[in-house]
Parts: sequence; structure tokens; C-alpha cells
Amino acid sequence: MLVHNAYFLALCAWGLPTALAHQGRRAPKPYPVKGQHNPSAQRVFAARAQAPPLEIRGLSTSGDSANRVDMIFFADGYTEDEKNKFFDDAGWLSEEITANVTFNTVKPLLNFWAAFTPSNESGVGTNGTQLDTVYGLYRPGTELRGVYVGKEDIARAACDSLGDQCDHPVIIGNSDLYGGIGGDIVTITPSKANGASILRHESGHNIIGIGEEYDGIEDGGYFGRNTLLSLDDPIPWQAWLTEPTSNGSMPRVERAVMPLQNYAWTLLNTTKPWAQSFVSSGTFASYVLRISISGTPAASDLRVEIDGEDVGWTPHEGVGMDRYFYDVYSEEPLSGGTHEVSFTLLNASLEGSAQMCSVEIMEYGSEEHFHSEPGYYGLFPSYTDTNTTAYRPTNEDCVMRQVTTPNYCNVCLEGMWNNLLAEISLIDGVNETCSGSTKTVKVALVPLAQLRTDPIDAEESLTIAWKKDGAAIASAANQTSVALDGEDAVGVYTVAVWYETSEVRTMDDEAYFSANATYEVTTAC
Ligand SMILES: *[C@@H]1O[C@H](CO)[C@@H](O)[C@H](O)[C@H]1NC(C)=O
Ligand SMILES: *[C@@H]1O[C@H](CO)[C@@H](O)[C@H](O)[C@H]1NC(C)=O
Ligand SMILES: *[C@@H]1O[C@H](CO)[C@@H](O)[C@H](O)[C@H]1NC(C)=O
Ligand SMILES: *[C@@H]1O[C@H](CO)[C@@H](O)[C@H](O)[C@H]1NC(C)=O
Ligand SMILES: *[C@@H]1O[C@H](CO)[C@@H](O)[C@H](O)[C@H]1NC(C)=O
Ligand SMILES: *[C@@H]1O[C@H](CO)[C@@H](O)[C@H](O)[C@H]1NC(C)=O
Ligand SMILES: *[C@@H]1O[C@H](CO)[C@@H](O)[C@H](O)[C@H]1NC(C)=O
Ligand SMILES: *[C@@H]1O[C@H](CO)[C@@H](O)[C@H](O)[C@H]1NC(C)=O
Ligand SMILES: *[C@@H]1O[C@H](CO)[C@@H](O)[C@H](O)[C@H]1NC(C)=O
Ligand SMILES: *[C@@H]1O[C@H](CO)[C@@H](O)[C@H](O)[C@H]1NC(C)=O
Repeated sequence: MLVHNAYFLALCAWGLPTALAHQGRRAPKPYPVKGQHNPSAQRVFAARAQAPPLEIRGLSTSGDSANRVDMIFFADGYTEDEKNKFFDDAGWLSEEITANVTFNTVKPLLNFWAAFTPSNESGVGTNGTQLDTVYGLYRPGTELRGVYVGKEDIARAACDSLGDQCDHPVIIGNSDLYGGIGGDIVTITPSKANGASILRHESGHNIIGIGEEYDGIEDGGYFGRNTLLSLDDPIPWQAWLTEPTSNGSMPRVERAVMPLQNYAWTLLNTTKPWAQSFVSSGTFASYVLRISISGTPAASDLRVEIDGEDVGWTPHEGVGMDRYFYDVYSEEPLSGGTHEVSFTLLNASLEGSAQMCSVEIMEYGSEEHFHSEPGYYGLFPSYTDTNTTAYRPTNEDCVMRQVTTPNYCNVCLEGMWNNLLAEISLIDGVNETCSGSTKTVKVALVPLAQLRTDPIDAEESLTIAWKKDGAAIASAANQTSVALDGEDAVGVYTVAVWYETSEVRTMDDEAYFSANATYEVTTAC
């Protein structure tokens, strides 16, 4: 019996390992044609691209860019007339990744900006050809896959011109269909079905410095705190294991295999189905068919079969020509031997656009051997393009594996906190003011815990301790300011701050989660 269960999943362009550049692992790309062996290097350097004019608006800001991590959206393929559309698209994307999901709890550490420059032409280039746009975004073919930056030097100049305000540049290409690429400059589209998902996923690479959790990537694509490559190594998420072993031995590996995986990117036609066979050992309890497809807006356009049996594929509501991921679960096991999955295009007018972009079969052990439930942290096998194994913390809880999932798992979220707090200080600054004869010394903090404007579910605390001339001021404990009268106020103040959250069990460095400041008051009010 096939149980149909459509997930809206976006990832696909990232099936392309060569297109990925992970900031956490690799230094930003140098400017083109700059190097010792290039005699014209000096001239090229001097002629480096100029930043375009940028109209910048804050989308969601929590503090000065000097002490925040800043994500900024640049506009490509939006004409002057489409300026409002750009700011709407950028606002929508920033909401989609922060409102109650993904970045919600770390939002006080981040700023989001939108930087508009009009393009002469509207849209994103296709078939390898750039339009007359600011950054020259284009698709290499006609398929909905990677979106590349044609004028990378201009994109870098735009980012460089903004200094602290551009930590994570994201160029939005004005196409409503799926597309994007990872790297130190991310590209995305405002596709309603996929844009936010791509951004969440790529931000995992760029901000957390973590690799993939989905199958079929080449060796090297799995890295960071969400990855264990050898069962002889310590588990980076030991603190999150649902069932840690009492004697320190490795927990069991969940039982799952991947008998078929193919990023085929094949255009479908009505003459001949696209089919591929695979072999099951017949020793598993259930399986899933995971596919991604574009260009087939109606259920009557395409038939998907396993061993000649229609699996009942239907498109995600409203997906149109856009790309989508679908999971078809079966509670029945595959029998031992050869099986076949096939895709038959039924609507000839869609030839040239209907595309089967990826197909995968995964088989799972029975309940005693495989924890499929959300929230279970253990050792789950992911399989590379050559079928070697990497281990991940959860089955499908993380956007690094299942792009329809709006969140990171706890392991990745913990990495997010560590990486963001490594970049900034909990203390924005210290200042003094007078009111009558009373001096108030005030510390400005990153608005976490009791200082948040929007409450969150995680448990957290911000502990604040004041001293003046080395002596603790007990009455000011956990206060953001201390007030003293007349000459009593003169002296050297120190304020120490510690942050704790239930979202972090492993601190990479305790210093990330605390901060000190010293401030001298030299005159009475
Ligand atoms: C976020 O959650 C709060 C309360 O749980 C709710 O009031 C608000 O509408 C939610 N916002 C979004 C964008 O879902
Ligand atoms: C894509 O470009 C190639 C040449 O680079 C051309 O032969 C082909 O017709 C183009 N395809 C489309 C759909 O424009
Ligand atoms: C738009 O076209 C004008 C005139 O050709 C050109 O000077 C300008 O650089 C173009 N703008 C962009 C953003 O490409
Ligand atoms: C350690 O404990 C696990 C159960 O938690 C058990 O399966 C395993 O055999 C034990 N290993 C050793 C070396 O005692
Ligand atoms: C990968 O290896 C497992 C056995 O470890 C096998 O069951 C599975 O079919 C293999 N998958 C592919 C795609 O070769
Ligand atoms: C139709 O699709 C099949 C399966 O992918 C392929 O083998 C065949 O070459 C395609 N035919 C045309 C005319 O493109
Ligand atoms: C084929 O697809 C086109 C484009 O989506 C649609 O307009 C048409 O109704 C479809 N034809 C059939 C027979 O479903
Ligand atoms: C400190 O206070 C003065 C006077 O109110 C103000 O002008 C200045 O901007 C403040 N500095 C900071 C870092 O808050
Ligand atoms: C300050 O806040 C921390 C964290 O909530 C708490 O543990 C501590 O008891 C507080 N100190 C005082 C003096 O209230
Ligand atoms: C804060 O000060 C204490 C001692 O005064 C010191 O041990 C600690 O390392 C300081 N922390 C930071 C983050 O500077």
C-alpha cells in the first residue's frame, strides 16, 4: 500500500556540489585576475569594479552594525518601477526566516537590510545569457536550478562599500520560480514555494558553518557540528543524544539504506518514460520515494510509478511551473530483488519544461531499529554520491536535510548561537547621564532574555553584576543601570554579563557567552 504524503521541499539546485562554496571552510574568493603572475594585475586592481548606488532600508534591525551580524539583500533584475516589489520581496524573506522560525531566537544578534539598485531589464537571465541587470544573475540553462552571478566583481564592490553592514550578502534575482546558489554570495529568488527555504538552508552553510545532511553529495560536503564521519570519533552532539549510553560507548546507528539516488535533471517527454531500476535487499520494513519535479502544474500531467504501480503523485497546491519536493512513504517493505521507478509525461505541451530533477529511495528498519520520530537525537546515516556513510543527529528535523523543514535541529541552532556570539559582544556600550544631582551609568546590552521585546519559548537568562572601585553593588544586580548621587558617583565601574539559554548545551568558548566592560565617571553631576 502506498501512502501518499506530499512534502513541499525546495532544495534541488544544491544537488550541485560544484556550485557550493561554504564560507565556513573556504576563504572568500579573491577578486578576479588579481595575482603575482599577472603582469596587468596592478592595472586590474586599480580598475576594480565600482559599487553601484544603493538605496538601503532596514528590514529588522536590533543594534549598531558594529556589534551585530548583518544580512543584506541586494536587488537584481528589478527595474525602477519594481522598487516596491523588491522591498516587499526582501521584507517577506526576512519575515519568513525570523518570525517564529529558524532565526527567531537569535534575532537580537542580527540586522536585516535591503539595498536597492534599479536594473535596466526585469528578470533573471536564462540559457547562460545575462540580462542588462546590476549583478547579471542568470540560469545556465532553462532548467530551474542554479542562479549564477555574472558580475561578481560588482557584487563584491557593493558589499565592500558597506563595511560592517554587509556580513552576509544575498542577491535576490527577480524571478518567481525556484533558483539560487550557495557560497559567500548567496543568490535566491522570491519564489513563494522555495525562496525562504533556500535562504534558510544556505544560511546554515554561511552562518553556522555546517555542511549537508541530505544524501548524494560528494565526500567533503558533510562537515561541521552536525556531522560525524567516523564512529571512532567523538560525537559533536553528545550533549543532545536522546539515549546516551551509560558506559560511554557509541550509541547504535539507526538502520536505513539508500538503494537509489540520482540527480538526473532530465527533461521529460511523452514518447518514452524516464525509468531507472534499483535493487532492494528485501530486509527493511518501509521505504520512501523522494522526488523533485518542476514544470508539471497538474496531477494529470505526470504519472509516477514504482514497479508499474501509480504512486498517486499530485502537485503541491499552487506550485504552477515551479519546482517542488515530494515524499511518498510506503509502510509496505520492498521485496528483495530489482525494482523500477518511472516518470511518464502525459501532457505534450509541457515538453521542454517538465523536468525530473532528482529521485531517491530510502529504506528504513522497523520501529525497533529506526527512530523516525521528530525530536529524537541519535546517529542517522546519510549516504554520499559514492554511497559512503556520514552520520547526522536527527532523521528529518533539520533544514540542512529536509528543506521543507523551517528550522534547524538543536545541534545546528547551538552552532548558530556559538558562531554569532563569537562575532559580537553581549555589551553594546556603557554611558552616563545626569538628572539633577543623580548620575546614572547605563549599560546597553544585546536585547536577550528579560530585555527581549518578543518573548520566546526557550529558557534563557542574562545575569548582570556591577562593581564600583572593585566593590560589588548588590542593589544593581541584574539591572542595566546604576544610579548614585553627587560625588559618590565618581569612580571606576565594571559591569559583567553572562548569558545562558536552553538552546546551548555545548559552548565552544565560555567567553562567547559573557562580557565585561569598564567605565570611568570623572565628574559628579
Ligand atoms: C508568532 O507567534 C506568536 C505567539 O505565539 C503569534 O502571536 C504570532 O502571530 C506568530 N507570528 C507568526 C508570523 O507566525
Ligand atoms: C541556448 O543557447 C544555445 C547556444 O548557446 C542555443 O543553441 C539554444 O538554442 C538556446 N536555447 C534556448 C532555449 O534559447
Ligand atoms: C543601464 O543602462 C545604461 C545605459 O546603457 C548604463 O549606463 C547603465 O550602467 C545600466 N545600468 C545597469 C544597472 O546596468
Ligand atoms: C555499553 O552500554 C550499552 C547500552 O547502553 C551496551 O549495549 C554495550 O554493550 C555496553 N558496552 C560495553 C563495552 O559495556
Ligand atoms: C549502498 O550500500 C548499501 C549497503 O551498504 C546498499 O544496500 C545500497 O543499495 C547501496 N546503494 C546504492 C545506491 O548503491
Ligand atoms: C524522451 O525521454 C526519454 C527518457 O528520458 C529519452 O530516452 C529520449 O531520448 C527522449 N526523447 C526525446 C526525443 O527527447
Ligand atoms: C497541458 O498543460 C497545459 C499547460 O499547463 C494546460 O494548459 C493544458 O490544459 C494541459 N492539457 C491537458 C490535456 O491537461
Ligand atoms: C552617550 O550619551 C550621550 C549624551 O546623552 C550621547 O550623546 C551619546 O550618543 C551616548 N553614547 C552612546 C554610545 O550611547
Ligand atoms: C540575576 O539573574 C540570574 C539569572 O536569572 C539569577 O540566577 C540571579 O539569582 C539573579 N540575581 C539576583 C541578585 O537577583
Ligand atoms: C571578565 O572579568 C573577569 C574578571 O574580572 C575575567 O575573569 C573574565 O575573563 C572577563 N570576561 C570577559 C569576557 O572579558
